[in-house]
Parts: sequence; structure tokens; C-alpha cells
Amino acid sequence: MTILSVLFAAFLPFQCHAAPVKDQCVICHATLGDSHQAILKSFSRDIHREVGLSCSSCHGGDSSSDDAGQAMGAEAGFVGAPTRAETPKFCGKCHSDPSAMKKYNPSLSVDQEVKYFTSVHGKKLQAGDSKVAVCTSCHTSHSIRPAKDPSSTVYSKNIPQTCGKCHSDAKLMGSYKLPADQVAKYTGSVHGKALLERGDTAAPVCNTCHGNHGAVPPGVENIGHVCGMCHAHNEEFFKAGPMAKAWEKRKFHICSTCHNHHDIQHPTPALLSSDNGVCRKCHLAGSAQSKAAGAMKAKVDEIEGSYKAAEKSILTAEEKGLDMAEARDLWDSARMSLFQAKTAVHAFRPEKVAEAADPGIEATAKARKSADEAVHEFGQRRVGLGIASLFLTLLALGLYLKVRDLESGQG
Ligand code: HEC
Ligand code: HEC
Ligand code: HEC
Ligand code: HEC
Ligand code: HEC
Ligand code: HEC
Ligand code: HEC
Ligand code: HEC
Ligand code: HEC
Repeated sequence: MTILSVLFAAFLPFQCHAAPVKDQCVICHATLGDSHQAILKSFSRDIHREVGLSCSSCHGGDSSSDDAGQAMGAEAGFVGAPTRAETPKFCGKCHSDPSAMKKYNPSLSVDQEVKYFTSVHGKKLQAGDSKVAVCTSCHTSHSIRPAKDPSSTVYSKNIPQTCGKCHSDAKLMGSYKLPADQVAKYTGSVHGKALLERGDTAAPVCNTCHGNHGAVPPGVENIGHVCGMCHAHNEEFFKAGPMAKAWEKRKFHICSTCHNHHDIQHPTPALLSSDNGVCRKCHLAGSAQSKAAGAMKAKVDEIEGSYKAAEKSILTAEEKGLDMAEARDLWDSARMSLFQAKTAVHAFRPEKVAEAADPGIEATAKARKSADEAVHEFGQRRVGLGIASLFLTLLALGLYLKVRDLESGQG
């Protein structure tokens, strides 16, 4: 350390201890070309800089020397820029070391490198393919931000773009015989619209289903069960249903076989149609299974129909200023039944759908009846009022004529 830097340190007591006061790496690189300026500029917002780390924390070397040879010498442990194959270990130097990370953030996990090597990316890298994603493909090398920061490449809304750098590259993906349409399909799906258009962070994005580092997220032994993390009832019904065993044996995906995985759309009862519904992919027209589908469709159609009809009646009554609070309550309870009936489709037994739908059908019938009756009564009251006012008018007219008669008799 030079005398100058000791003085500097004394005058800057709040300078973080891990960042050398006079960082020769920064000072010299600031005099180099544009690409180096760009690195310094991005690094000014990097999380590593924010916690007091600097160039030499990752690259090694002697940051107190202003001599290039010494600062970046092998003796000082300089490692330079890692190749893609070297990157996991380069980052893992700290991120796989609990004692190194504990000092900064004890709650941050230290399993990224280990998990990475269980993913398709990691396995391929190990086999010598350097076109797969490594740490810096997803995180960048000098503008690394935590996932919760909206400007991070791994912030939920930015994930499709981050993965899309490679997965939307048709030429690159073609060489692996993989489609390059995942981002486009996801963007138009129920999940993509919920997250990207409405900001609903409960909806999954690429890494929710595929994992950040590992092949699949924690607690899910296989991607077949990833949907059940959020759609638990659908999975429960399916697993207790008549197809679970046969599908497991055949390795059919328990959800995407019917819904797809990237371009999932809002399901409607048309999926149960006996002509071109989803069941017809495997079951013949007229089979017991197709009949079951038809019976379920009829039930869902019935509750949807009665639900809509009740809504119309309630609105008509409300437009006339009538109080429909009770009918609204009934109608709300029917909405629950409607959702439950659609979920119960996944038992693939018509009686299960009926069990969920029937209370709703009954409630909507009641709601509709009370709304219709209120409107009817209102109409009758109007007619009664009309008759009464007509009668009064006639009476007044009679009186007037009578008075006029009397007056003219007198004259
Ligand atoms: C006196 C000037 C000077 C100092 C001090 C210096 N560097 Fe460099 N560094 C250079 C030059 C010049 C290059 C080559 C630039 C080029 O090729 O564009 C370079 C290249 C690099 C590279 C790229 C190497 C590669 O493999 O491509 C890294 C990483 C790097 N320096 C990091 C550091 C770190 C870390 C320190 C401090 C420990 C440091 N430098 C100190 C001048 C310096
Ligand atoms: C979090 C670790 C980390 C820190 C801190 C870091 N670098 Fe790097 N640096 C990398 C990685 C990883 C690469 C390899 C880049 C790549 O392949 O995209 C790299 C590459 C480079 C290169 C080669 C040119 C390039 O872009 O590939 C230079 C020069 C460089 N770093 C300079 C610096 C300087 C100067 C600092 C301090 C201001 C710094 N680095 C801080 C991780 C780091
Ligand atoms: C010298 C040790 C070191 C190296 C090498 C290192 N990191 Fe870090 N990294 C840290 C520390 C310390 C933090 C801050 C932890 C905190 O305070 O939350 C951090 C934070 C991060 C975060 C944000 C974590 C969060 O809070 O969400 C990411 C992402 C990250 N590093 C990725 C990388 C990548 C990618 C590399 C390799 C290019 C790398 N790191 C290399 C020490 C290191
Ligand atoms: C395919 C993309 C991808 C690759 C490759 C990748 N990461 Fe990540 N990483 C993510 C995503 C996505 C998140 C955060 C997700 C979240 O929390 O929402 C993340 C989070 C992190 C975090 C924060 C703590 C945590 O585990 O959530 C650290 C640290 C980190 N990564 C380091 C690394 C290191 C080190 C490597 C290389 C061994 C690496 N990452 C490789 C995508 C990737
Ligand atoms: C740097 C480019 C790159 C980035 C960024 C990238 N990947 Fe990949 N990924 C690849 C390549 C190349 C393969 C092909 C490996 C193979 O299948 O042989 C692959 C394979 C995959 C596979 C396995 C496909 C299969 O069935 O074989 C999944 C899943 C995947 N990536 C998901 C993601 C997700 C999710 C992200 C973002 C968080 C992401 N990738 C980011 C390059 C990338
Ligand atoms: C709702 C969960 C989910 C989301 C979100 C998701 N995937 Fe997938 N992905 C799957 C499933 C399930 C498969 C099929 C796996 C299988 O058949 O083994 C798959 C397959 C893949 C494959 C293999 C090739 C293919 O298209 O079948 C790649 C690559 C991939 N996904 C990348 C992505 C990327 C990139 C994103 C974000 C734009 C994404 N996935 C979003 C669940 C999801
Ligand atoms: C991280 C939680 C999560 C995961 C994992 C998930 N979903 Fe979703 N899903 C949601 C949310 C939230 C919505 C509601 C989006 C909206 O508001 O339209 C939704 C909506 C849906 C819908 C539309 C429902 C409707 O009535 O329009 C279907 C179908 C669906 N998901 C199927 C799947 C399948 C199949 C998978 C697995 C490949 C899956 N989901 C994985 C959270 C998840
Ligand atoms: C054999 C085909 C089939 C399979 C397998 C299947 N579904 Fe469905 N799913 C349907 C049909 C048909 C509907 C539409 C019901 C309606 O609107 O009448 C539906 C509706 C839905 C809905 C909207 C209704 C609700 O429950 O909110 C979601 C969400 C859903 N499915 C998720 C899943 C998930 C998650 C899985 C896997 C555990 C799955 N589905 C497996 C056929 C299937
Ligand atoms: C991907 C193919 C596939 C699709 C799609 C499919 N099934 Fe099945 N289903 C099977 C297989 C395989 C079996 C078990 C073998 C068998 O009994 O035929 C089965 C069995 C059944 C059974 C039990 C039959 C019995 O005798 O116990 C019913 C009920 C059934 N399916 C209804 C449906 C309905 C309703 C749909 C649409 C919502 C549907 N399936 C969609 C493949 C499929």
C-alpha cells in the first residue's frame, strides 16, 4: 500500500473495506478503449460493486499495483476473462462457498453451481458444448442485479427475453432440432398475458417451470408435476381419476397432453365436444369415454347457461331500481360452483361434475326466479298505478262536465 492510499483510507472512513481505496485496476482500465469504459459503466450498478467487491474479487490480481504486468500477473493470482466452460467455477469460487457468502448474505443459497450441472445446459457444457447457457448468459458479466430488481435480466418480466436470446434463434435451435417458438407461444398464452400484460406475478414464466439452475424446481421431481404446484385441485382430481395409471405407464404429460405447455389458452367446454374435442385424440366417437365427455359438457353448458340467464334477469331488475342483494348472493355462490365444476372435469366422471354443478344450478334458478318475480311485480304495480290514475282522470273529467252542466242550467 502506498502512503497516499493509507492517507486516502484515513480520510474516507466509510469506504467499504473490501474495495481497495485506490483501485489500480479501475484507474488503468478507465484509460483504455471504449469496451473498457463500457465495462466500468455497467459495473457501477453491479450488485458486486454495491456490496464492496471489485475487479480483483472476480479476476484476481493485485489491485494496488499500477504496473500492468504485476497487477495482472500470474503471481498475483490473476485469472483474466474466463471461457464459457470455465465460468461456472469462476462464479462458484464464491457462490458455492458457504463461508465466503455467509459474510455478506447468510440467507443466499450456495447451490447454483451444483444445480446448474444437473440441468440440460450444465450437462451439455460438461460434454463440451459451449453454446448452451452459462452463468453470464442469464446474469451478464458486469451488470449483475438481484432478481427482484426490475432492471435485472432475471426479473420475472425480463426472463422471456433473456431465454429468448438463444431459444428464439431459429438457426441455433435448428441445429439441436428444437423449436424456437417458446417465447412467442408463451407471450400469447394465459400465463404470458397475465404476467406481461397485467403484471400478475402469480403466473409462471420460463424459470418457474424449468427451474433457475436445476432441471426442475425444488419439490417437483419431474416437470410433469410442475402445473400442480399452482393448480393443485386439477392434479388431485387427475391423479384419483381413471386415466392416471395408464398415462403414467405411457409417459403422457398429465396436463399438457390436453392443454399444451407454452401456448395454454383459456379452456372452454368445447374441449369436451364429442366431434373434435380433446378426448377424441384418443377415444372413439360413441365410446363410453366419449359419452362421459358429452355428459360432462352438457352439465358445464347447463350451469354456464343458467348462470348467464340469472345474471341477465338480475341486471334487468337492477335497471328498474329494485334491490337484488339476495339474488346477487345466490348468483355469487353459483360462480364458485361453476369454477368447481370445470375443475371437477379432471376426475373424468360425469357424476363428479354434477356434484359440483348442481348446487350452483339450483342457486341460479332461485336467483333468476326472484329477479323475474320482482320485475313482474314491478310491472303489475305499474299497471295498477296506471289504472288508478286513469280512473282519477275520468272522475275529474266527469265532475268537470257535471259542474259545467249545472252552471249552464243556472244560466
Ligand atoms: C496499467 C494498466 C492496467 C492495470 C493496472 C490493470 N490492467 Fe487489466 N488490462 C490492461 C490492458 C492494456 C489490457 C488489455 C486490453 C485489451 O486487450 O483490450 C487488460 C486486460 C484485462 C482483462 C482482460 C483479459 C482477457 O483475458 O481478455 C482483464 C479481465 C483485466 N485486464 C482485469 C484487470 C484487473 C482485475 C486488474 C487489477 C488487479 C487490472 N486489470 C489491472 C491494463 C491494465
Ligand atoms: C462478478 C465477477 C466479475 C467482476 C467483479 C468483474 N468481472 Fe470482468 N469479467 C467477468 C467475466 C465472467 C468475464 C468474461 C466475460 C464474458 O465472457 O462475457 C469478464 C471479462 C472481462 C474482460 C474481458 C473483456 C470482455 O468483456 O470479455 C475485461 C477487460 C474485464 N472483465 C474487466 C473487468 C474490470 C475492469 C472489472 C472491474 C471494474 C471487472 N472486470 C469486474 C466477471 C467479472
Ligand atoms: C468474489 C466472490 C464472488 C464472485 C467471484 C461472484 N460473486 Fe456473485 N455475489 C457475491 C456476493 C458477496 C454477492 C452479494 C450477496 C448479497 O449481499 O445478497 C453476490 C451477488 C450475486 C447475485 C445477486 C444475488 C441476489 O441477491 O439475488 C447474483 C445473481 C450473482 N452474484 C451472480 C454471480 C455471477 C453470475 C458470477 C460470475 C460471473 C458471480 N456472481 C461471481 C460474491 C461473488
Ligand atoms: C438459464 C439461466 C441461468 C443460468 C445459466 C444461471 N442462472 Fe442464476 N439465476 C437465474 C434466475 C432466473 C434466477 C432468479 C430467479 C428468481 O429468484 O426469481 C437466478 C438466481 C441466481 C442467484 C440468486 C440466488 C438464487 O439462487 O436464487 C445467484 C447467486 C445466481 N443465480 C448465480 C448463478 C451462478 C453462479 C450461475 C452459474 C453456475 C448461474 N446463476 C446460472 C438464471 C440463471
Ligand atoms: C446462451 C444461450 C441460451 C440461453 C440464454 C438459454 N438457453 Fe436453454 N438451451 C440452450 C441450448 C443451446 C440448448 C440445447 C441443448 C440441447 O438440448 O442439446 C438449451 C436447452 C434448454 C432446454 C432443454 C431442451 C430440451 O428438451 O432438450 C430447456 C428446457 C432450456 N434450455 C430452457 C432455458 C430457459 C428456461 C432459459 C432462460 C431462463 C434458457 N434456456 C436460456 C441455450 C440457451
Ligand atoms: C407452465 C410451465 C412452462 C412455462 C411457463 C414454460 N415452459 Fe417450457 N416446457 C414446459 C413443459 C411441460 C415442456 C415439455 C417438457 C417435456 O415434454 O418433457 C416444456 C418444453 C420446453 C423446451 C423443449 C422444447 C419444446 O419446445 O418443447 C424448451 C426449450 C422450453 N420449454 C423453453 C421454455 C422457455 C424459453 C420458456 C419461456 C418463454 C418456457 N419454456 C416456459 C413447461 C413450461
Ligand atoms: C406459478 C403458478 C402456476 C404454474 C406453475 C402453472 N400455472 Fe396455470 N395459471 C396460473 C395463474 C395465476 C393463472 C391465471 C391467469 C389469469 O389470470 O388469466 C393460470 C391459468 C391457467 C389456465 C387458464 C384457466 C382459465 O380459466 O382461463 C390454464 C388452462 C392453466 N393455467 C394451465 C396450466 C398448466 C397446464 C400448467 C403446467 C404446464 C400450469 N398452468 C402451470 C398459475 C400457474
Ligand atoms: C384429458 C384432458 C385434460 C387433462 C389431462 C387436463 N385437463 Fe384441464 N381441462 C380440460 C377440459 C376439457 C377443461 C375445460 C372444462 C370446461 O370449461 O368445461 C379443462 C379446464 C382446465 C382449467 C380451467 C378450469 C379450472 O379448473 O380453473 C385449468 C386451470 C386446467 N384445466 C388445468 C389443468 C391442469 C393443471 C392439468 C394437469 C394436472 C389438466 N388441466 C389436465 C381437459 C384436461
Ligand atoms: C392422450 C390420450 C387420451 C386422451 C386425450 C383422453 N384419454 Fe381417456 N383414457 C386414455 C387411456 C390410455 C385410458 C386407459 C385405457 C382405457 O381404459 O382405455 C383412458 C381411460 C379413460 C376412462 C376410463 C375408462 C374405463 O373403462 O375405466 C375415461 C372415463 C376416460 N378415459 C375419459 C376421457 C375423457 C372424458 C377425455 C377428455 C376430457 C379423455 N379420456 C381423454 C387416454 C386418453
